[in-house]
Amino acid sequence: MKICVIGTGYVGLVGSAVFADWGNQVIGVDNNPDKIKMIEAGEMPIFEPGLKELVAKNVASGNLKFTTSLADGINESEIIFICVGTPMGEDGSADLKYIYQVAEEIAQNMKTPKIISIKSTVPVGTNRKVREFIKSKTSVDFASVSVPEFLREGSSIEDMNQTDRTVIGSDDLNAIEKVASLFSHLNSPIVKCDLESAELIKYASNSFLATKISFINEIAQICDLSGADVSKVAYGMGLDSRIGPKFLNASIGYGGSCFPKDVLALFKTSSDFGYHFNILDSVMNTNKNQKYYFLNKIKKVYGDNLKGKKVAALGLAFKNDTDDIRESVAIEVVKILREMGAIINAFDPEAMPNSKKVLGEEHINYLSRKEEVFQDSDLLVILTEWKEFKDISSENLLKLRDKNIFDGRNLLEASKIRDLGINYYSIGRK
Ligand code: UGA
Repeated sequence: MKICVIGTGYVGLVGSAVFADWGNQVIGVDNNPDKIKMIEAGEMPIFEPGLKELVAKNVASGNLKFTTSLADGINESEIIFICVGTPMGEDGSADLKYIYQVAEEIAQNMKTPKIISIKSTVPVGTNRKVREFIKSKTSVDFASVSVPEFLREGSSIEDMNQTDRTVIGSDDLNAIEKVASLFSHLNSPIVKCDLESAELIKYASNSFLATKISFINEIAQICDLSGADVSKVAYGMGLDSRIGPKFLNASIGYGGSCFPKDVLALFKTSSDFGYHFNILDSVMNTNKNQKYYFLNKIKKVYGDNLKGKKVAALGLAFKNDTDDIRESVAIEVVKILREMGAIINAFDPEAMPNSKKVLGEEHINYLSRKEEVFQDSDLLVILTEWKEFKDISSENLLKLRDKNIFDGRNLLEASKIRDLGINYYSIGRK
């Protein structure tokens, strides 16, 4: 199939490479010439495991090419996937300006009938409005399809190849079947539905996952109060197949470019429909407070003033296996520790260049190996769930002058740390 993918962010770039790898002829479009030049030169604008290799392989095979010309991209293709950003607007609702800019350009340049699919996360009702908008600007026939994306950063290629489900919404049954044929080789269900249901499946899924995280974070607080262990509680809950084990890791709170934005956007959309979404209100509040719950553990030991203290900080990305620091709770925690007077010795395997841009260099040292953060530090905070932070040698941990570890991701084994004579504070574990 001939496909045009508009936008080369996480969803667009990964999507174009994977569609090409499935044997389609794909053109990736972005209006930023520097980005296109970079990708054509084999450099990825984002860090994503396996992406560079997958793009290179499919460019070499001739299945994948990139352009800044949207007109060329759409006119050579049958199906267009819109994958541009829908950032958080000032009032918390999704800002759809990029979607409408692209819609306008498609309408101006489309010469033959197309299937126009929106993959970007857009509030319920958007696909239909965009359809009307394009219709008002062109006489060329087209079908509108909503194909929300469920990939996670850090494992996006695997997520696309082994998706739990594909959701395809449209009023046009032929268009649904055509788009479905792209995914039919995947061994997973395809949910065929109307535009609005497809849009809502995406928001409801992200919001439900965020709810799971806030729920377990509140359970963790009860664990701290009662002496229970949240990892055991989560394990015991997760064995119930109706609950499932995933997204029950207590933490400093969820971050990233999706959950905070999408939970708020669904809350806003609900309000616009005249409905107050009580649960989501609580999910957001719990998440906002969770980092302070973690910081209070530090304050209980050190008080409000960390002047003269050097804090080893492991992790700056919003989660593991990514260089993305958008809405990263780790970054927020580092900022607060610095405001409290601490000097930060930080390490993240991928997110340091991005972190430098927002945190600057004042009172923060960026170290090139995780072991280096221990060399001149009083205490340790663990802020991102990188697997490699699980195995830090006792020798390094014992270098911490105050012998205090605050683990915001429950990565380390409590009993082992305490056997070393180090005080260990985590989220909801004895
Ligand atoms: C999320 C969804 O998981 C994807 O399905 C969706 O496609 C994507 O948003 C999107 O809408 O584009 P992502 O933001 O990449 O994916 O990251 P997640 O793995 O979901 O993690 C989100 C946040 O929750 C991270 O800060 C992570 O550290 C935190 N988290 C996750 C926890 O605190 N505890 C958990 O048990 C799981």
